[in-house]
Amino acid sequence: MHHFDLKDGALHAEGVPLELIADEVGTPAYVYSTATLKRHYGLLRAAADAHRDALGEALIAFAVKANSNLSVLATLAKLGSGADTVSKGEIRRALAAGVPSDRIIFSGVGKTDVEMAFAISVGVRQINVESGAELDRLIAVAAMMDASPAIAVRVNPNVGAGGHAKITTGGKGDKFGVPVEEAMDLYARASASPHVTPVGLACHIGSQITDLKPLEAAFEVLADMTRKLRAQGHAVTRLDLGGGLGVPYSGGAEPPSPAEYVAMAARVLNGLDVEAAFEPGRLLAANAGVLLSQVIQVNERSDGRRFLVLDAAMNDLMRPALYDAFHDIQPVNPRGGAPTSYDVVGPVCETGDTFARDRALPPLEAEDLIVFTGAGAYGAVMSSEYNSRPLIPEVLVDGDQWAVIRPRPTYEEMLDREPFADWL
Ligand code: LLP
Repeated sequence: MHHFDLKDGALHAEGVPLELIADEVGTPAYVYSTATLKRHYGLLRAAADAHRDALGEALIAFAVKANSNLSVLATLAKLGSGADTVSKGEIRRALAAGVPSDRIIFSGVGKTDVEMAFAISVGVRQINVESGAELDRLIAVAAMMDASPAIAVRVNPNVGAGGHAKITTGGKGDKFGVPVEEAMDLYARASASPHVTPVGLACHIGSQITDLKPLEAAFEVLADMTRKLRAQGHAVTRLDLGGGLGVPYSGGAEPPSPAEYVAMAARVLNGLDVEAAFEPGRLLAANAGVLLSQVIQVNERSDGRRFLVLDAAMNDLMRPALYDAFHDIQPVNPRGGAPTSYDVVGPVCETGDTFARDRALPPLEAEDLIVFTGAGAYGAVMSSEYNSRPLIPEVLVDGDQWAVIRPRPTYEEMLDREPFADWL
């Protein structure tokens, strides 16, 4: 569900015509809807609150990697969201956006000593440890600071899932987490150290998951381990269930609802008396954003192929090039007429810069505006300046008001970042 709808024949973000935003900030641009962010957070919050008996005061920690714009983070922080972070930069963003440090989880497979020390110094809620080597380094860093940060052990439950091999993280061969047997030993080792305080377990098995079964299997592994660890005398008070619930990208599989997902988690955790954490990224942000772009021209070939050449490219929205991801394309001011088949491409100089092949779309002409839907998660955050295309602006809409929340850099700003070597 989202708040990008046709009103009087023109696509709006809430109360604001997208054409107006295109006129004022230019294209391409990302446009986010506050109402959609609020709705998605609210649905998950209500579902978690309805299962307080099984999930405790569950923390919803937005996965900052999905959309790290400060205004987006601040919108969620005001609703009470925490943050799942994977770098010092993400922790700094979460703090700057007003997320209290005791709602920040620090995850990630390769945290540096500097990042761990920073996380300890600002007092994050917990650090999710992903390997024995990392535990040793964390203990050493914490000892130097005379600290004992709360940690969760990230388990690799050997259940992989997700919309694409590149975003599956819970399989045995994936780089993430500690295999179950090793995780038990690691927990015991951590318990014996005065410089870390193990509080629980974590998992995250993949992204864009549209079937509850693998998630349930992973949560069962955590529940099982909790019982075993407690039998060995260890305290386990928190279970971090990761993110991963898929969203509807039109044309793809329909995912379960947040309510069904949380009810399943509550069933598995029932009776354990733990506090749950969820780390949704895509679920909150994907359908809260569109990528607004303009048609540069339509290239018609004599063999009948028709290329819709946009001013947005793979550097602005990587997902189709990287994961063959499907994003729906909609005209901002649809002109009617029978759909035609287009190859939708950007101006970047490689064939990978193709958003869609043989996509049936209403007739489009040069200078028409279109949007890619479902672009609020893993869109702007994954963009680059490839082909020396400056990063594109981000705009946040709330009802009838809108604001540029990351301006388009000028070419001077782009060039001025690079001092010449002094011998040149
Ligand atoms: N927690 C951890 C530890 C994660 O690694 C991730 C995502 C999440 C939570 C949030 O997952 P979500 O709820 O968004 O599925 N760039 C890819 C997605 C990569 C996801 C990486 N980890 C894409 O565009 O599909």
